[in-house]
Amino acid sequence: MTTIPGLRTTLAGRRALVTGSTSGIGRSIATALAREGATVVVTGRHQEGGAAVVHTIRTAGGAGHFVRADLAEGGRAATRLAQEAATAAGGPIDLLVNNAALLIPAQSLTDVDEQLADLALAVNVKAPVLLTAALAPAMAQAGGGAVVNVGSISGAVGAAVSALYGATKAALHSLTASWAAELAPQGIRVNAVLPGPTMTDENAAFHDMLHKYTATTPAGRPGTAADIADAVVFLAGDRASHIHGVTLPVDGGYLATR
Ligand SMILES: NC(=O)c1ccc[n+]([C@@H]2O[C@H](COP(=O)([O-])OP(=O)(O)OC[C@H]3O[C@@H](n4cnc5c(N)ncnc54)[C@H](OP(=O)(O)O)[C@@H]3O)[C@@H](O)[C@H]2O)c1
Repeated sequence: MTTIPGLRTTLAGRRALVTGSTSGIGRSIATALAREGATVVVTGRHQEGGAAVVHTIRTAGGAGHFVRADLAEGGRAATRLAQEAATAAGGPIDLLVNNAALLIPAQSLTDVDEQLADLALAVNVKAPVLLTAALAPAMAQAGGGAVVNVGSISGAVGAAVSALYGATKAALHSLTASWAAELAPQGIRVNAVLPGPTMTDENAAFHDMLHKYTATTPAGRPGTAADIADAVVFLAGDRASHIHGVTLPVDGGYLATR
């Protein structure tokens, strides 16, 4: 079980929604935000995983709630999630982390059929658009907030086997910059983190491969879910108040030195 040593208060009073927080990087982001004092709404399709994350948060003295949602279902699901998250958190969400994604296994152009293309665009692009649109008005009315998108280095470089996935992440990077301009007048800061190869409990079978892949980067190792969560916590908090519209690689220097 993940633990949350030393509850802090840098995000006390904030209400966060972290998509895709039933596992992997999202789970670490949710527990890290809770450790900083935020009330965190955990969401995903899997009730069991969500309940375990909420249990971890509450056991450590934090505040967490689970709301089930399938982000592939489109507009109504996004609207329902926005409403149910605010109800669960006890007020307007003022911190949204768009983390959920369809991680597509290596695929060439001819492997991509219409169903896969639709699903990737629905979960990785359409859902963040609809969810951010659903939450922004109440966030603005409550005095502002922050959105942190979880992109990927795959959206910043070309790779022969990840064109579709990379394109969805490049779209999210573009949305980050545009939303930073559009939502700043409403007091909402928008930024993104771009993980490089990152180890999670769920991809343990690939950790050796991730180590080989990152051996020649400045960091010389893959990222951890906690590395990504630390960057999200920073961008979400007041110490990042002058940071708008950045796409911050958290990749051990991969992009800078490739
Ligand atoms: N791991 C890496 O090396 C890496 C590198 C670069 C970028 N990233 C990015 O980091 C983020 C997290 O990746 P991860 O490695 O933690 O992946 P993961 O373990 O597969 O987690 C993905 C999360 O997204 C949720 N999700 C997927 N489809 C969904 C749907 N239709 N509706 C609602 N939720 C859905 C899953 O929840 P349910 O299963 O409960 O629905 C899960 O919690 C993603 O945005 C990914 O693109 C990861």
